[in-house]
Amino acid sequence: MRALLGYFLFLLLVLSPLLVQGQGHVLDKPVTEKCLTCICEAISGCNATAICTSPEKGTCGIFRITWGYWVDAGKLTVNGEHPDSEKAFVNCANDPHCAADLVQNYMKKFNQDCNEDGEMDCHDYARIHKLGAYGCQADMPYTFQSVFEECIEKFEDEGLE
Ligand SMILES: *[C@@H]1O[C@H](CO)[C@@H](O)[C@H](O)[C@H]1NC(C)=O
Repeated sequence: MRALLGYFLFLLLVLSPLLVQGQGHVLDKPVTEKCLTCICEAISGCNATAICTSPEKGTCGIFRITWGYWVDAGKLTVNGEHPDSEKAFVNCANDPHCAADLVQNYMKKFNQDCNEDGEMDCHDYARIHKLGAYGCQADMPYTFQSVFEECIEKFEDEGLE
């Protein structure tokens, strides 16, 4: 009985930091809902049809997420699917919730002031999402940028900023 209790306490001590870490991973979300909406508006029109526009590279789902992005964002999966399973990436990228969590993780990891305005905000997240973590200072594609700006302005006009 004593040994069993000891074993239980041992398990608790070993596992609890993992549990806390796991929770922090999911709960710590730097990107607002408004910002997620404007990024998906700009990149896919928030079209949630499960589709990969470039099957070779990936580019799947509402946020047009690539395989490399999925890897960098921690290989999240839906319904407890194993990350090594063949469809794990496509299934997560095509699931709006899983895809949004990927964006959160990616931004948490690559947080930076891309436009050098002294703030880390949605404008930087849009750049990181569209241009990647290592080229986010580059020029933004015109269509993406104009849809994104229009979306942000709409929220500001509604006083939701
Ligand atoms: C969403 O994307 C699918 C697949 O590309 C397309 O068939 C559908 O028309 C799109 N829906 C809207 C509302 O644009």
